[in-house]
Amino acid sequence: MRVLGIESSCDETGLAVYCTERGLLGQALHSQVDMHERYGGVVPELASRDHIRRVMPLARQALAESGLAPADLDGIAWTEGPGLAGALLVGAAVGATLAWALGRPGIGVHHLEGHLLSPLLASDQPPMPFTALLVSGGHTQLLAVEEIGRYRLLGDTLDDAAGEAFDKSAKLLGLGYPGGPALSRLAAQGKPGRFKLPRPMLHDAGLDFSFSGLKTAVRTQVARGLPDESARAALALEVETAITEVLAAKAVRAVRESGHGRLVVAGGVSANRQLRERLIQAAERERFRVWFPPPALCTDNGAMIALAGALRLDAMARAGCLPSAPRNFRVRPRWPLEELETIAGR
Ligand code: KG4
Ligand code: ZN
Repeated sequence: MRVLGIESSCDETGLAVYCTERGLLGQALHSQVDMHERYGGVVPELASRDHIRRVMPLARQALAESGLAPADLDGIAWTEGPGLAGALLVGAAVGATLAWALGRPGIGVHHLEGHLLSPLLASDQPPMPFTALLVSGGHTQLLAVEEIGRYRLLGDTLDDAAGEAFDKSAKLLGLGYPGGPALSRLAAQGKPGRFKLPRPMLHDAGLDFSFSGLKTAVRTQVARGLPDESARAALALEVETAITEVLAAKAVRAVRESGHGRLVVAGGVSANRQLRERLIQAAERERFRVWFPPPALCTDNGAMIALAGALRLDAMARAGCLPSAPRNFRVRPRWPLEELETIAGR
């Protein structure tokens, strides 16, 4: 089954074709980072307007790369939520209209399910069940993934997400938006030991996180003054270390408690090098296996939406309940992952 996926929930327009037999056939992506940078964050109205401009040319590009014509597609998937309402509406309207015009089934995909399944886009794929650490700009969650659509929340952030902690700390250090990659690049030049930031809830018995105190501690350090570039780099390294130490410690505990022996890390922050190194080392030490998405597919993209849509549509086809071409669509700016249903609808 060949499915065109459309991602437009925030500041990336991503289009891709995924085939359940042959894998990812083609993809095209436009990031709006340059456009939002001068405002220090995403401006929702500008994001929606840019998605409108980009979506069809990118769809043509993804199809051309796949060597397919629109009529060769077996279905269309788009991000239904969570995300910015106006931005989501663009992908959903285009996706549902294309599906209707082609007479093919359409499906609205949960953005975080896309992230969760994105390690399946690599050649070495994790079998289910597994424990997942989902770390994006808006979410920091530990989940037990039993099958597609059955996700049990094990731990969540009480305030800021890990990506948000990276972004806010980066802003305080005078780095651009999005801050995570920039902070990580600066940290690579930092020497350890010069600063000590808190590790929020590290020794707490549960699997929840809290990162807002970290931001306050960074603000205090910055206000005291950072005399030179090496001090900025050392503080960036300490921020990265504090965040990744807590994420890794709780993820390891979740794997241990679940007994799965398998950890999947996904979402934008899964691109972070220090986090990857920590978890690879922990996996060796504690004898579990760890999977990450391909580095280019950690942040938002169309491939993960095409993949999640294709897996769901394929399972529906097998169960004899493939939907007919859509006549309407909706978006869900707020949509808890646990509200998702399995393909069998249980
Ligand atoms: O998953 P994502 O692309 O978007 C959401 O669904 O939120 O995640 C974006 C987040 C941003 O906070 C960004 O700063 C962070 O992922 N990020 C990183 C890195 N690359 C992206 N954080 C730390 N290190 C990175 N290399
Ligand atoms: Zn995302």
